[in-house]
Amino acid sequence: METRYPNLFSPFRLGGVELRNRVVMLPHVTMYAGEDRRPSARQRHYYLERARGGVGLIVTESQYVHPSGGAATTVDASSREGMLAWRETVAGVHEQGAKIFAQLTHHGGQTFSHATGLPLWGPSPVADPAIGEIPHAVDHDEIRAVVAAFTAAAANARAAGFDGVELKIGHDGILRAFLSPYWNRRDDEYGGSVEGRARLALEAIAAVRAAVGPDMALGARLCLDEGIPGGYGLEDALGFARIFAAAGQLDYLSADMGVWMRVDLQIPPMTWPEGYALDAAVALRAASGLPVIAYGRIKRPAQAEEALARGAADLIGMTRQLIADPAWAAKAATGREAEIRPCVACNQLCVGSIARNLPIGCVHNPAAGREERLGALALRPAATARRVLVVGGGPAGLKAAETAARRGHRVTLLERGPALGGQVRLAATAPGHAEWGEIATHLAAEVARLGVEVILSAEATPEAILAAAPEAVVIAAGSAPAPPPFPAAPGTAVLSDLDVLRGEGPRGAEVLLLDLGVRFQGAALVETLAERGNRVHWVTPAPFVGAEIDPSTLSDLRRRLARLGVVCTPEHTVVGAEPGSAALLNVMTGEVAPVRAEAIVVAGNRRAADGLAAALKGRVAELHVVGDSVAPRTVSMAIYEGELAGRAV
Ligand SMILES: Cc1cc2nc3c(=O)[nH]c(=O)nc-3n(C[C@H](O)[C@H](O)[C@H](O)COP(=O)(O)OP(=O)(O)OC[C@H]3O[C@@H](n4cnc5c(N)ncnc54)[C@H](O)[C@@H]3O)c2cc1C
Ligand SMILES: Cc1cc2nc3c(=O)[nH]c(=O)nc-3n(C[C@H](O)[C@H](O)[C@H](O)COP(=O)(O)O)c2cc1C
Ligand code: SF4
Repeated sequence: METRYPNLFSPFRLGGVELRNRVVMLPHVTMYAGEDRRPSARQRHYYLERARGGVGLIVTESQYVHPSGGAATTVDASSREGMLAWRETVAGVHEQGAKIFAQLTHHGGQTFSHATGLPLWGPSPVADPAIGEIPHAVDHDEIRAVVAAFTAAAANARAAGFDGVELKIGHDGILRAFLSPYWNRRDDEYGGSVEGRARLALEAIAAVRAAVGPDMALGARLCLDEGIPGGYGLEDALGFARIFAAAGQLDYLSADMGVWMRVDLQIPPMTWPEGYALDAAVALRAASGLPVIAYGRIKRPAQAEEALARGAADLIGMTRQLIADPAWAAKAATGREAEIRPCVACNQLCVGSIARNLPIGCVHNPAAGREERLGALALRPAATARRVLVVGGGPAGLKAAETAARRGHRVTLLERGPALGGQVRLAATAPGHAEWGEIATHLAAEVARLGVEVILSAEATPEAILAAAPEAVVIAAGSAPAPPPFPAAPGTAVLSDLDVLRGEGPRGAEVLLLDLGVRFQGAALVETLAERGNRVHWVTPAPFVGAEIDPSTLSDLRRRLARLGVVCTPEHTVVGAEPGSAALLNVMTGEVAPVRAEAIVVAGNRRAADGLAAALKGRVAELHVVGDSVAPRTVSMAIYEGELAGRAV
């Protein structure tokens, strides 16, 4: 078939393994493994959906090779029986024409002894600053046990039918820790020089190659820049790559960067440029002479094709884009790239969930992790096409309309505003939030493509809805700012988040931002206010500002806030206000003190727009209420509930 992306959809050979195209699903922990640390049915459905979606290669999430290097809800690759439970997944992936490698790791000092029940292992007793637990410095017997564990796990992967094995010398794990001058302070043959620090990884590579034989592919994911003072940078990493390549046992290298302290380098937020790590892949390819998998904010087929065409890499690796849209490759290959659901690098339900020890999902792909129930194969056409009326063009209404139309219903969507997108469209106008708007743009394009009748600047009233007599109604009317939760004397400037995003409010003033949402509204507002020349005082009753924001987005935000001179006061709230000042309550001690505030902006203080639903209850044939209209929450819940309503009508 003709394709616009001849490089992307050309085959490639990794060692003895032929890939149908250059699209690689990079390893990512899903947290779907069972309590028994074995692959689960949920994992199988997740991987098969991505194989059906057309990727050439899947590299599984990190699986641990030794009990001392385990982690919660990940797979124990040291168990032969457990690894054999991958067989069905492996066979299913093959049936779809894709290949699958197992990523193997020993988490070293980047896990928790309460997860393993054992002391952590590391090259030296140096804690990971993001974790704070001091590991036991392994002796020579334990080093031999680590190598033997990688070997045994690789043999298990072979028995399970995997096409290849990838050793993680990436952003976490003991193999990288040995490379690092920050973590490795040893004075024996496994420390000191570059060669000494590379010794353990080299021994593991050699032993695993001997275990898997020449036919299975063997690669390594290599952290190319730890990004911390005292850690190693790109030049040192290229030295390691040369050493590994010279040993002649690897079929490829997969690029990676960062450590847990620099999760922004690993899994960057939307403020980072797309393709930010491609230059590192170029350098890796040149230094090692091995096939290289590129990574990092690659989401557009044209971008991937361009990277391959200029020789930046041999294969294109993606994680989040394939969480957001498992069918990325199939859509790109068949000229349907406009239908790709873009990852917006919000990090909220993928790495944000991992940070909370929850299974991963995606804010605007409700099927991620729910493939069996909501995946591509689970969408049933409607038995009869019905007239469905959706009220509200925010994410909940758009998703409900899209799903209902996909099933064959005749859908009309009423939106009172002049444009679609609801709060998301507004939030996207905040500094550093632009990509967020792609959620709304994508859904708007999909409803248009599917023939939904969209009527803008149309206020839905109970009377008008009853007169139209639709066969099913979905109310997705969202939420609106609630009145301030404190008394304010006349003349006090108190604004809502929406007021500020609509352009109202002070310039060059002393502004108190009261963040009751704890998650993201405050983050959207703080920079908006600071960039208008205000001196911003960010106050929240939570233990720290941005408490629920994922670590990657938060670290980037904090760096910008320091430059903008924002002052943060956690564990406080406003209990009263008058022109020029606010009364601040310390929620821990109960003390109240006045602070200067020429204006107060209240974020995350919302009330569900539930009046329409209440007025229609029992008066229409079928009624569904979704998203913030039920209770003000998140985009992911709005979209999930929209999807369910679209499937239910
Ligand atoms: C500043 C800010 C930042 C945010 N950041 C995040 C974030 O980072 N992550 C996250 O998950 N969530 C975030 N949120 C919250 C998120 O945007 C909402 O939870 C989500 O938009 C709710 O979607 P919804 O479709 O239910 O409602 P809305 O987005 O509120 O959409 C409802 C739509 O219905 C229309 N409507 C209402 N009544 C009628 C009527 N009678 N007739 C016709 N049309 C009507 C409205 O005009 C609106 O367009 C943020 C919110 C704000 C304000
Ligand atoms: C939820 C999640 C889990 C991850 N787990 C792993 C992992 O198990 N092994 C690994 O090498 N990288 C892991 N990563 C890093 C990704 O493979 C990838 O390098 C990163 O997400 C940046 O690529 P992207 O912009 O395409 O998402 C993970 C990333 C995410 C978002
Ligand atoms: S949750 Fe956000 S960052 Fe994660 S895959 Fe979905 S869109 Fe991308």
